[in-house]
Amino acid sequence: MTRRRASHSGGDDHALISMGSMTWQVQYREFGGPEVLEFVEVPTPAAPAGGVVVETRAIGVNPIDSKLRSGLRKSSPIAAPRVPGSDAAGVVVEVGAGVSDWAVGDEVILRGAHGAYSTHVIASAGQLVQKPAAVGWDEAAAIGIPASTAYQALRSLGVEQGSTLLVHGGSGAVGQAALQFARDWGASVVATGSEANQERLRELGAIPVVYGQGLTERIREALKHAGLEGIDRVLDAAGSDEALEASFELVADRSDIGTIVVGARAAELGIRAWAGGSPVPLTEEEQALRAEAYGVTAELIELGEFEVEIGARYPLAEAAAAQAASLSGAHRGKIILSPLPLS
Ligand SMILES: NC(=O)c1ccc[n+]([C@@H]2O[C@H](COP(=O)([O-])OP(=O)(O)OC[C@H]3O[C@@H](n4cnc5c(N)ncnc54)[C@H](OP(=O)(O)O)[C@@H]3O)[C@@H](O)[C@H]2O)c1
Repeated sequence: MTRRRASHSGGDDHALISMGSMTWQVQYREFGGPEVLEFVEVPTPAAPAGGVVVETRAIGVNPIDSKLRSGLRKSSPIAAPRVPGSDAAGVVVEVGAGVSDWAVGDEVILRGAHGAYSTHVIASAGQLVQKPAAVGWDEAAAIGIPASTAYQALRSLGVEQGSTLLVHGGSGAVGQAALQFARDWGASVVATGSEANQERLRELGAIPVVYGQGLTERIREALKHAGLEGIDRVLDAAGSDEALEASFELVADRSDIGTIVVGARAAELGIRAWAGGSPVPLTEEEQALRAEAYGVTAELIELGEFEVEIGARYPLAEAAAAQAASLSGAHRGKIILSPLPLS
């Protein structure tokens, strides 16, 4: 096994990646900062019965990857090296016994991948979604957690034609997906973001509002200006006290407010939550909605009706720098890891 630190500073680590029978992956053996990530070479496992080996082309970096690595989001003690990542897209390179729907060469999106920060990922056949040819690798790898969460949360909130939705954190990956689904379904959307991202919120069809002190008043002003009566649904993708307080001032029924960030406090606050630290697991219906979102989103991208903003690409060997950038908000849009040397 070859082991090295996942680089913060670039260098030529990515030039070492080979596509032979070895797999390069990012691992951590203890909780901590991005520096606990190591870039490791291991033998590529064989496809299990009912599963496949996917050679990744692009890997999506999500905030949860850093929360789990740091221990901020509780998980079981680390008994064996852990590989981060849930989102990736790639090519099937080996098919296990009993798999008839997928073949070597198929281009796929992985749903709920285990250990996506890797050149090769083992997945069950049920985790694969066909990648339309017109959807690029980066976009395909970016659909996963953000679009599926936004889609499920909005459906669960009952957002529909005529709804007026407030999205806290509208310029993030989940927020941008939520804005586009809500727009497509005929809802009006007010979205919060930093001053720098107001134009982006507008481009996605939302009424933009800058977060920060005085938020509730600014939202009321924006509603008045747009001729809207009030907010009837809230998706909290920010998790700040300010976002929650504004939501409570604007919406009478707290069951119309859902968070994906402060799930641990949802019961005490009387709001809904989907994961995000909630002790209540997703229902089967919610899981089914998340699964459905992959195909729906890929098709919308193919039709040119849904946009995934890519903020930055890093070589897989620089996963530590990618996670640090994700935490600091250095880039708007998805951060993608590339298992291939970047051209
Ligand atoms: N429960 C779930 O299943 C689930 C799934 C996905 C994500 N999440 C969580 O949802 C959150 C968002 O995820 P993401 O992937 O969209 O992250 P992201 O792409 O990194 O975006 C985060 C966004 O938060 C915005 N933001 C920062 N401070 C804010 C504030 N005080 N008020 C409003 N917005 C603020 C930033 O907007 P500006 O850049 O404009 O400041 C940024 O665009 C993360 O905490 C993530 O862990 C939960």
